[in-house]
Amino acid sequence: MKMSNCIFFYAILLAGFALAFSVQAQDQSGFISIDCGIPAASSYNDETTDLKYISDTTFVETGINKNISSEFQISTLPKQFYNVRTFPQGMRNCYTLNPTEGKGSKYSIRASFMYGNYDAANKPPQFDLYLGVNLWDSIKLDNATAMEMKEIIHIPTENHVLICLVNTGLGTPFISALELRLLRNSSYETVSRSIALYKRYDYGSITNQTIRYKDDAYDRMWTPREFPKTKKLSTSLPIRSGADDSYLPPSAVMSTAITPINGSHALQFYWEPKDPTAKYYVYMYFAEVEVLQDNQLREFNISKDGQILMEFIVPEYLFSFSTYRVKPYSGAIIEFSLDRTERSTLPPIINAFEVYMEKDFSQSETLHTDVDAVMNMKKMYGVKRNWQGDPCAPKAYSWDGLNCSYKGNDPPRIISLNLSSSGLTGEIAPYLSNLTLIQSLDLSNNSLSGNVPEFLSRLQFLRVLNLKGNKFTGPIPVELMEKSKNGSLQLSVGDNEELCSSSSDSCKKEKKNMFVIPLVASAVSLLFFLTALAMIWWSLKRRKDRAAILNAHGSLEFENRHFTYSEVLKITDNFNKVLGKGGFGTVYHGYLDDGTQVAVKMLSSSSGQGFKEFEAEVKLLMRVHHRNLTNLVGYFIEDNNMGLIYEYMANGNLKQLLSDEKASTLSWERRLQIAMDAAQGLEYLHIGCKPPIVHRDIKPENILLTENLEAKLADFGLSKVFPIGGTHVSTVVAGTPGYLDPEYFVTDWLNEKSDVYSFGVVLLEIITSQAVIVRNENENIHIIQTVTNMIAKGDIENIVDSCLRGGFEIESAWRAVELAVKCASRTSSERPNMNEVVTELKECLMMELARKKKELWH
Ligand SMILES: *[C@@H]1O[C@H](CO)[C@@H](O)[C@H](O)[C@H]1NC(C)=O
Ligand SMILES: *[C@@H]1O[C@H](CO)[C@@H](O)[C@H](O)[C@H]1NC(C)=O
Ligand SMILES: *[C@@H]1O[C@H](CO)[C@@H](O)[C@H](O)[C@H]1NC(C)=O
Ligand SMILES: *[C@@H]1O[C@H](CO)[C@@H](O)[C@H](O)[C@H]1NC(C)=O
Ligand SMILES: *[C@@H]1O[C@H](CO)[C@@H](O)[C@H](O)[C@H]1NC(C)=O
Ligand SMILES: *[C@@H]1O[C@H](CO)[C@@H](O)[C@H](O)[C@H]1NC(C)=O
Ligand SMILES: *[C@@H]1O[C@H](CO)[C@@H](O)[C@H](O)[C@H]1NC(C)=O
Ligand SMILES: *[C@@H]1O[C@H](CO)[C@@H](O)[C@H](O)[C@H]1NC(C)=O
Ligand SMILES: *[C@@H]1O[C@H](CO)[C@@H](O)[C@H](O)[C@H]1NC(C)=O
Ligand SMILES: *[C@@H]1O[C@H](CO)[C@@H](O)[C@H](O)[C@H]1NC(C)=O
Ligand SMILES: *[C@@H]1O[C@H](CO)[C@@H](O)[C@H](O)[C@H]1NC(C)=O
Repeated sequence: MKMSNCIFFYAILLAGFALAFSVQAQDQSGFISIDCGIPAASSYNDETTDLKYISDTTFVETGINKNISSEFQISTLPKQFYNVRTFPQGMRNCYTLNPTEGKGSKYSIRASFMYGNYDAANKPPQFDLYLGVNLWDSIKLDNATAMEMKEIIHIPTENHVLICLVNTGLGTPFISALELRLLRNSSYETVSRSIALYKRYDYGSITNQTIRYKDDAYDRMWTPREFPKTKKLSTSLPIRSGADDSYLPPSAVMSTAITPINGSHALQFYWEPKDPTAKYYVYMYFAEVEVLQDNQLREFNISKDGQILMEFIVPEYLFSFSTYRVKPYSGAIIEFSLDRTERSTLPPIINAFEVYMEKDFSQSETLHTDVDAVMNMKKMYGVKRNWQGDPCAPKAYSWDGLNCSYKGNDPPRIISLNLSSSGLTGEIAPYLSNLTLIQSLDLSNNSLSGNVPEFLSRLQFLRVLNLKGNKFTGPIPVELMEKSKNGSLQLSVGDNEELCSSSSDSCKKEKKNMFVIPLVASAVSLLFFLTALAMIWWSLKRRKDRAAILNAHGSLEFENRHFTYSEVLKITDNFNKVLGKGGFGTVYHGYLDDGTQVAVKMLSSSSGQGFKEFEAEVKLLMRVHHRNLTNLVGYFIEDNNMGLIYEYMANGNLKQLLSDEKASTLSWERRLQIAMDAAQGLEYLHIGCKPPIVHRDIKPENILLTENLEAKLADFGLSKVFPIGGTHVSTVVAGTPGYLDPEYFVTDWLNEKSDVYSFGVVLLEIITSQAVIVRNENENIHIIQTVTNMIAKGDIENIVDSCLRGGFEIESAWRAVELAVKCASRTSSERPNMNEVVTELKECLMMELARKKKELWH
């Protein structure tokens, strides 16, 4: 019983079909032959195999081409090994093959490696090879000429096959060649989806040549193998195989065989697996190559561990016969014996032998709809990250910028995606709708445009949606707004100039008037303006629903929240911590419910001007958004209390920074960066806004700094209606001594160029860390004077803050100083515009970065 059970697993592919010769398709359809590392778009036909090898550039996005050392480029070395693609960057780098037959078909995939000292480091690396999300093998090369070839038979579940090289810290991964061959479905039938080649032997070879394509239609590589105590048998005639024998053993392999020298002996094979639970699939190939006489018989049984697996095998003359079992073998020792039967007159033979090992590829790939969605997004946006291989698996190599859920054996799912500051352009990818489990989506600080799509509101697990700092237009879908209002979604949509909170008329109207900031040019318009404000004030006083009123004036930014006074008390912990004081009132530190830090600017209720300023600032801030302008979180107005809630700027203002000890640690690059940020904010006000907005009070106190020392302008547009500093007689315009455009005293009029003047002064402060006005005994010396004198002496080292100790590119410093002085020209026509300022600062920055780079190399 036992015996026949075993036999059951074997199929004998033999006889009955003797007439059906195998027609071996020798074209290369179903083949992908890649010579990794040859020049892009090149190809060649291999001299020995005639296989067409193509370059790998369309299969891989990363890595660089290298030639192996010329001493190893010998004529007997297959050309595929002459060059490699190496991956010095990224933990995991992947090739993506898209076989035309797609998923579900059976493929043999071979990856080949020969180091060849391509990097002249004489250090063969060690790294891991993955098939998709599963570890296929480890590659360890002993020396420059050692060759590793890994072959696997695999049925992919997706239309693509990913082959990934993973850096394990033992050297830079590289690859020489990658080959994929389509197999017939009925070949190598196993209970496993993936089996890796363990051994493949051609017995009795008389040429000592490895046999592959075109002899082998599947391009398997058959290695000649000697066997002790055996003799070789061979024929010069071709060996056929049955039409239903999908194993297609090549004639060149089958025409040689071995047989025991001592005719009474058996043929025995065995090996001792390192892991006794490893599962092996064994394939044996037989064909009679000798002409037997009538009285001769070659008949044998195959047994394993004393159990007969197959009985009465009689190889047919010039006709091949393949054996296999669908289930694997395992054990501490695996031994096969081919024993002649009692009646046999000849000993057993064997022509070829293959062993594969089951690969436990149990790690699931990410759910394919999620994969497709992010792959499509990657393509659509040209995402520049090392997004390779499976997004979520294995966990250690999951893509940067996303997180996944891993639940038991379920395929991993993408639950968060962060593509902020990734330079994305175009619309929101429709593919996002297929990330059905997504909880957090951050697309902030890109240049995405178009409408905010409805489908986002149908992502039922979405809790955080950040669309800040893009170019979205039109209304926000009502459902998203609702979710945001009832707290089920944390929605951020600020810094999108043309986005509106609803599809109402006011939303559409607002777009047109976005930057119509009336410049209070004359007493008449000022009077009109103040009257209008007063009217608003009165209506506010009368009506309780103040937010609604502001709304009616088209002045409510959707992201800004209206806070109640009691909320403000809570936020500031009863005005516990003072951050600073200004002409308008006091600034307090606070926390929102979600822990976000904010700065609460209270407007002193006693000030008659307070409300106007408040209005002006709210109106402006609501319309103007830029990453270098302070962001308004909300506002409140209740009875005599009103105020604004801003994002908290952890590093205070530039004045504090420059007077602080910290100033000594400010590098030249950082100083230029701060100047750039401020310049860009100002450039936006002057050039990005139509009509332009004049800040009127550029000074270090009004340049705030984030945690990362990014600079943002504060209090812009405000001084127009609210005089600050109190040293001026003027009622309309304002400014701070030292920074105020000297032309103002002549023209009584502040324009953009006045801001440029102030900026020039600030830039000098950034460069020198000196006070704007130094008071000597009876003389006030302005920083411009000091610097101009030093320029005349060509003394750049002494202009720049001595704390830098010369740690800057001289040319960069010169140009920055010259720029500052030019900005601070007495006559406005000599001052550059902010656009030119930004361009020049950028160049200063580039020079400094180039210097730093050089420093790194030396
Ligand atoms: C590799 O060698 C070939 C000539 O054999 C040369 O044309 C090519 O530029 C070399 N490639 C690299 C990356 O050095
Ligand atoms: C092999 O199997 C796959 C999936 O079952 C099928 O799509 C394909 O047509 C089969 N190929 C052949 C030649 O039968
Ligand atoms: C290189 O390593 C292989 C084993 O990986 C060994 O067979 C061969 O002899 C070695 N060659 C040299 C030159 O050391
Ligand atoms: C094949 O290799 C064996 C052992 O390495 C050697 O004895 C034999 O001469 C070789 N035969 C040919 C034809 O090269
Ligand atoms: C062949 O093997 C048998 C059994 O091991 C032995 O008895 C016999 O002497 C051997 N014959 C030769 C010629 O070595
Ligand atoms: C071969 O198999 C047959 C049937 O199972 C059995 O009767 C015979 O003893 C076996 N012979 C050898 C040498 O194993
Ligand atoms: C992923 O999770 C980590 C740890 O919780 C977190 O720091 C990171 O911000 C998350 N990334 C995304 C894209 O949500
Ligand atoms: C996204 O990444 C940026 C930094 O790259 C980080 O500031 C931001 O908090 C992240 N967003 C989320 C939702 O984790
Ligand atoms: C916004 O993105 C740009 C690059 O696209 C980056 O330089 C800048 O630091 C980002 N800003 C923020 C606030 O993340
Ligand atoms: C979502 O996934 C389904 C199934 O894979 C696909 O047919 C559909 O086109 C995808 N939708 C989008 C918008 O990509
Ligand atoms: C919030 O509003 C959305 C859309 O109207 C609704 O689906 C959701 O159930 C609401 N959630 C809560 C907590 O009220």
